[in-house]
Amino acid sequence: IMDTSDEWIRERTGIAERRWVEPGTTGAAMAADASRMALEAAHVEAREVDAIVLATLSPDHCFPGTGVFLQRELGLSPVPALDLRAQCSGFLYGLSVADAWIRSGQYRTVLLVGVEIQSTGLDLTTEGRDMAVLFGDGAGAAVLRGSEDTDRGVLSTHLHSQGEHAEILWCDASASYRHPRITAEDLEEGRHYPRMEGKEVFKHAVQRMPEVVGEALDANGLTASDIDLLIPHQANLRISQMVQRRLGLRDDQVFNNIQRYGNTTAATIPIALHEARQQGLVKAGDLICFVGLGSGLNWGAALHRC
Ligand code: UT7
Repeated sequence: IMDTSDEWIRERTGIAERRWVEPGTTGAAMAADASRMALEAAHVEAREVDAIVLATLSPDHCFPGTGVFLQRELGLSPVPALDLRAQCSGFLYGLSVADAWIRSGQYRTVLLVGVEIQSTGLDLTTEGRDMAVLFGDGAGAAVLRGSEDTDRGVLSTHLHSQGEHAEILWCDASASYRHPRITAEDLEEGRHYPRMEGKEVFKHAVQRMPEVVGEALDANGLTASDIDLLIPHQANLRISQMVQRRLGLRDDQVFNNIQRYGNTTAATIPIALHEARQQGLVKAGDLICFVGLGSGLNWGAALHRC
């Protein structure tokens, strides 16, 4: 369907497979599946959830956000449902919000979900091949709960944004400051497709991701050698490998699964966390570091003691 090759994709990105939804599957339904799995793993009943944070750049509708549709699927009315738009850093921003809500005492149990349907929004012509080969659909979820045990849980979160780089990875249309928000010309010119200056984003990622991990470690009096598992946002295997090298981490300290899913944006970190747990790589007492950078630019890191 476009001029590309398996060899190019594997070499430049590490991606061998990606999952696309059947037409008609909603993000809310995928988010609900992931939420049920997370609730079961956490031994928490859905009715114990006090608030929902849902991160996505591909909402099911313009408004309201996917969070309320998830809430409806889970039968959780009237707990608050917050949609968060921080793209590839959505899960990290959501983790920060959920952690702050819990620390402040506002809510005790927060369901945090990252979900994306990218496949329906890609330019599948050769012109869009740099983006189209990267992205997959997916959902991941985590349950956060307040505890008196201060040695465990989220140690800290560190977030940054740089709006001056907004257009190096963005989707121009539809645009609410234009009337109509999307025109036939927009569609003809492909302004409804995501566009990226890949090399520029790459450069920012390999600089900012190690930097913000360092910031998180410093804030907690820790060093890179203390990290048991780094779970980076899965955008490109070469990015994860450069971040690993810059932090001086061994292969067994970094978890990657982009090979099978491609970039699922806000869902990559929770999907990776789930698979790392399934593979027995997350043990009690381990220090887990999450890190990511993406459209915004938004980036961040979080440290979690299991
Ligand atoms: O999650 C959000 C954050 N996103 C990222 O972090 C992504 C960061 N960027 C990247 O991962 C990489 O820049 C890409 C994978 C997107 C591209 O890799 P690259 O090594 O930077 O390639 P490039 O864009 O410089 O393109 C090199 C060549 C070009 O051809 P010419 O101009 O040299 O003739 C592209 O047209 O590769 C061509 N190309 C492709 N060829 C085959 C671009 N995409 C493809 C493709 N198949 N899918």
